[in-house]
Amino acid sequence: MIFASNATDALNLVIQGAVKPGGHVVSSQLEHNSVLRPLHHLRGKGLIDYDLVPFDVQGFIDPDDVARAIRPETDFVLLTHASNALGTIQPVEAIGSLCRERGIPLIIDTAQSAGVVPINISDWGVSAMAFTGHKSLLGPTGIGGLILSRGFEVQSTRFGGTGIDSQELTHTQTYPHRLEAGTINFLGVLGLMAGLDYLAAQGMEGILEKERALARRLWEGLAELGKVKLYGADRMDRRLGVILANVEGMIPADVAAILDGDFGIATRAGLHCAPLVHHLLGTGRTGGVRFSLGPFNTSEDIDRVLEAMAKICATR
Ligand SMILES: Cc1ncc(COP(=O)(O)O)c(C=O)c1O
Repeated sequence: MIFASNATDALNLVIQGAVKPGGHVVSSQLEHNSVLRPLHHLRGKGLIDYDLVPFDVQGFIDPDDVARAIRPETDFVLLTHASNALGTIQPVEAIGSLCRERGIPLIIDTAQSAGVVPINISDWGVSAMAFTGHKSLLGPTGIGGLILSRGFEVQSTRFGGTGIDSQELTHTQTYPHRLEAGTINFLGVLGLMAGLDYLAAQGMEGILEKERALARRLWEGLAELGKVKLYGADRMDRRLGVILANVEGMIPADVAAILDGDFGIATRAGLHCAPLVHHLLGTGRTGGVRFSLGPFNTSEDIDRVLEAMAKICATR
């Protein structure tokens, strides 16, 4: 386990440290810019090529598309576990088993799922997972990391002091120091530990169940308003409490500003750093409004959101 500053940092460590010149990566159109931009950068430098598999109307990647995209020179498959724009949880287990059969490492981005959805990297055949501390793990910002399965090698792409092997000018090659250069964010680690203690005490499954129950009410309530378009699967058992919506005839940034200014409700409008998701949904210009539920949301919060959204829709 390697500490990093956030999921973006962890993804950069694993992407840059596991690709080979002339190599290839299979990823998807659901990805966050923290995956897309490093891949784009490496391709721009002529170092690698990559293919992005699409997602279906429900917001899921088809494992067969992943299988078809794998080439002889593919270094790894890299996919988001749960989409930050659509909230859909991807069939990582099925993709892990096909990657295992072909001997291709599978890396997952668990920025959205770690802390709320159970993850079993050894059973699923996952070689590496990147996570961030400040979302469902309930830690502070500035802390994240990478968990590697035994045998999956990631080369150092940053070099410096590790506090050990100081006589050598070559960077330490044992883990975690191989990928950790300089002083780590100890305060962030302590904050993350407090988040993990809370999750352990509450039980992650209860939190997921609660978030899904709230998400179902929110989804159904928004759907009843008639003027709200909802995106992705309506099956809560394959989702997180992240709901993407648009109000007919309104710019998402305006909806979010009214929710914030008039009702004190925080949402996020725009592309959510996942431009290809919005491109495929046809919302590439202005994006959508994303409602993200967390463990501290209540049923009353959902009532308030639905009342506010009903008032906003009534103005149309
Ligand atoms: C799916 C996904 N991946 C990566 C990231 C990047 O996380 P961080 O901001 O911790 O680098 C996010 C953040 O929103 C995300 O939702």
